[in-house]
Amino acid sequence: MSNSHGTDLNVHAATGDEPVFPLPPHHHRLTDTDPRAAKRAERQIATMFILSALGMVGFVVAYVMVPTTSYLDLGPVGVLQTSNLLLGLTFGTATLLIGVAAIHWAKKLMADEEIIDHRHPVGSTDEDREEALAAFNAGVAESGFAERPLLRRTLIAALALFPIPLIVLLKDMGPLPGDSLRHTIWRKGSRIVIDVSGQPLRPEDMSVGSLVSASPADLNDIQEAEGNQNARAKASIILVRMKPGEIVSEQGEGWSYQGILAFSKICTHVGCPIALYQQRTHHLLCPCHQSTFDLADSGAVVFGPAARRMPQLPITVDNEGYLVAQSDFHEPVGPSFWERP
Ligand code: FES
Repeated sequence: MSNSHGTDLNVHAATGDEPVFPLPPHHHRLTDTDPRAAKRAERQIATMFILSALGMVGFVVAYVMVPTTSYLDLGPVGVLQTSNLLLGLTFGTATLLIGVAAIHWAKKLMADEEIIDHRHPVGSTDEDREEALAAFNAGVAESGFAERPLLRRTLIAALALFPIPLIVLLKDMGPLPGDSLRHTIWRKGSRIVIDVSGQPLRPEDMSVGSLVSASPADLNDIQEAEGNQNARAKASIILVRMKPGEIVSEQGEGWSYQGILAFSKICTHVGCPIALYQQRTHHLLCPCHQSTFDLADSGAVVFGPAARRMPQLPITVDNEGYLVAQSDFHEPVGPSFWERP
């Protein structure tokens, strides 16, 4: 038994007489026998390709037009960044529609007869190549790619727009940060508060060996004014307390207070936040690539890929006895990729 292209439909034993695994008989689908059903399926598939193309356009529009400072309150789900939500929805839907349309096309319109192809020696003869070419051309004909210009064009449109989001995302590779990492919102007198709770800290609140994640007290006001999260990321610090006699060196004279030192929380390798502290060795460990910094010795790198010490924030106390910054950081926080050749 063979199909219309001469390919065997059943596997025969070595003798060539009896099929080993006979295939079930082929049942025609509605779209095989009813041209109107085929046309309907064609329109459904084309609609999905068109919606996919619109989804890609929507992705680009959302990327360019929706500010990253806009948020949506979705009640129990939480507060989501509008731009992230729209980018995910448009790109996800567009990708899904291409997949669903392709499956629908294969299931409804392409030939669905099962074919078993016998194994051959690896090298193909000219005859085999001609056969393969004929089978390929027959497959193209059966898929309707040539005869259904609507599907062909909408598929090409959907696939042509598919890479555009990837190109648009290249925009995030620039511009270079310039001076933006050299300054944070820390300034003289900025009160240091515990992250999340916002509680101001006195030196006596920290015991020897402890670590606290902290930020400037006026962070929320400044964030609203600047309208972005960068200020929070750059200003994140950790405070550690050790016995004053254990401090080997600091990045500046008088930058600690009664054994309390403040360092940036952002790893100088590629920017992971760090809060893993070994009290006994005073080592700060980055969980991302295991860079290790000695906080008792100016935050120097003692292990791992980081090429630069942890920037230290000079601190003191104000008139009311609360810990405050003496100034901004004296060197850039975060990964120092611009210093690499
Ligand atoms: S980000 Fe910290 S070691 Fe890589």
